[in-house]
Amino acid sequence: MRIFKRVWNWFDDITGISAVLGPLLKHPVPRARKSAWFYVLGSATLISFFLQIVTGIALASGYVPSSGQAYDTLLFITGTDIGRIVRGMHAFGASAMVILIGLHTIRVYLMGAYKYPRQMNWLTGAGLLLLTLLMAFTGQLLRWDQTGFWSVVIAAEQAGRTPVIGQWLARFIMAGDTVGGATLSRFFAAHVFFIPALIFLFVAFHLYLVVHNGISEPPQAGRPVDPKKYRSWYQALLARDGQPFWPDAAWRDAAFGLLVIVVVAVLAIVIGPPELGPPPDPTIVEASPRPEWYLLWYYAVLSLIPKWSEDWVIILGPAIFGAVLILLPLAAGKGERSPIRRPWSFVIVAFTVFMIAYYGAVGHIAPWSPRMESPPLPAQVVGATTGPVAEGARVFHYKGCLYCHLISGYGGIRGPDLTYAGDILTPAQMTTRIYSGGTNMPSYTGNLTSEELSALIAFLSSRHRQPVFPLPLPRKQ
Ligand code: HEC
Repeated sequence: MRIFKRVWNWFDDITGISAVLGPLLKHPVPRARKSAWFYVLGSATLISFFLQIVTGIALASGYVPSSGQAYDTLLFITGTDIGRIVRGMHAFGASAMVILIGLHTIRVYLMGAYKYPRQMNWLTGAGLLLLTLLMAFTGQLLRWDQTGFWSVVIAAEQAGRTPVIGQWLARFIMAGDTVGGATLSRFFAAHVFFIPALIFLFVAFHLYLVVHNGISEPPQAGRPVDPKKYRSWYQALLARDGQPFWPDAAWRDAAFGLLVIVVVAVLAIVIGPPELGPPPDPTIVEASPRPEWYLLWYYAVLSLIPKWSEDWVIILGPAIFGAVLILLPLAAGKGERSPIRRPWSFVIVAFTVFMIAYYGAVGHIAPWSPRMESPPLPAQVVGATTGPVAEGARVFHYKGCLYCHLISGYGGIRGPDLTYAGDILTPAQMTTRIYSGGTNMPSYTGNLTSEELSALIAFLSSRHRQPVFPLPLPRKQ
């Protein structure tokens, strides 16, 4: 024990660390009493970020960010015991970080803690929220499977609709005209160097502000913030009823942070990392991926809103959201903090959470997204094992038609049910549709040989309603 103390004294003497850290740890914070546990969400977000750095560095040391090897190196990583757990922790850690930063934002918003003098705390926090979502988005592509690949294709398509800079933006995202090796390099650099560097900067500024302005006291109805008097009032409050941050308040942060790490680790061990989808294959024409749950709702909104409103929602949605985040502390920087006196804040939070949950659920089950895991049609459904009909059924599967179309209960439901296609469409109508595509159906021009096309038509034309035979006899009374 003595030796540790001597080493520490020596270290402290030549670095002066305790003179800096001491006041930081001991600085007084308001007693929160009933709402004390709400105050742990920010530090827990930071802890989950550190967890992402540690697991991310571990992953990066086994991962090769090249289009030829990324998928295989991830398969390799997932195949080892440690790698499986680390990948699982990185994936669940990402969810944890998104949830925690979301809850932290809601907490700060409801408690009106963005008001004077903490407007810049809010603005740097909003920056961190955006950067966190960017990390989630860029990380998705690094898996380099179908889902990651198509998520970026769709995102680039959406970005391309922005007026004036759309084309440039889409090219910037993809690092070219299509998603390929250059895109992967760009996303890797963004995910590993650029965005984390920005997060560090923002976190440093955010934490400095937290200490500089002090932690907000729990709001009280009828005690509005007056910028002229607030600071002196706050100092008096601390002098009257403050407590040192360490250990009186910080033990909660430590306990909750530890809980977050344990939960993430347990989930990673028990459930494991998300399964890798099939490797990316640009020849599979397929319209919508199934991104991570925290982005899924946004993709679902984009694909479910009526066509005419798409451009508006794609451009105005994020613009309004960003403007509200920035303007909120500037426009409403004083006055009542208590949510009881700001009843609208509950409505806004409830609405936002509902939208994300609702569209997340819709995105999960609704026909908006093709079922990429659809197995080939069984022989008794096809009704043939050789010949053009059977060949057509195979084409129907490997060209991805089955992802969107239902045949006798098999397949996806994004497009119309084609179980009785032979009854409702002529071969000419089928050919036109397959070549020209339609709303939410890709055009297959140039992507089908004429043999494949005639096999498809043969298969679809053989789909008929079965005559009901024997006819049910009239029931004897
Ligand atoms: C990404 C999903 C998707 C894929 C993949 C897809 N389709 Fe479609 N398909 C649709 C949608 C959506 C419609 C309705 C389009 C419309 O009404 O504008 C449609 C319409 C059709 C129709 C016309 C149905 C009718 O009742 O009018 C046919 C036939 C058809 N698809 C065949 C195919 C074939 C064959 C393939 C594969 C080569 C295929 N589809 C791949 C989504 C898809």
